[in-house]
Amino acid sequence: MKKVIAVALFTSVLLASCTPKASKATSAIGPATSTAEQIAQGKTIFENSCGRCHKLPDPTSHNSVQWVGIMNAMAPKAKLTDEQHQWVYDYIVSAKK
Ligand code: HEC
Repeated sequence: MKKVIAVALFTSVLLASCTPKASKATSAIGPATSTAEQIAQGKTIFENSCGRCHKLPDPTSHNSVQWVGIMNAMAPKAKLTDEQHQWVYDYIVSAKK
């Protein structure tokens, strides 16, 4: 009987430790969720920030998946905030169509 209780206790401790913590949702870079206004801002930021170190890249030169990786590498270089990162990404992806 003691063993059963021990197992039950152990299980509940395990469960408790696996409960997801109330973690701050990280801003996911994903499908375009920005408004037209934010995309317009993204275009301005893109034009002002992304041509400083190299030629302004062509949005059609990479697909939307490749742009996720490029933006992850370039947003810190351009010192973009998470929001600006999202807007520029959404602009690039919307400009491809
Ligand atoms: C501080 C300088 C700097 C800024 C600002 C910058 N880049 Fe870059 N970028 C680089 C360098 C250096 C490389 C080449 C080396 C590398 O890939 O890290 C590069 C490469 C690239 C490439 C080619 C990557 C590939 O795989 O072909 C793209 C596309 C690009 N940048 C887009 C951007 C965009 C979009 C922005 C604006 C958000 C931006 N860059 C801002 C420095 C910069």
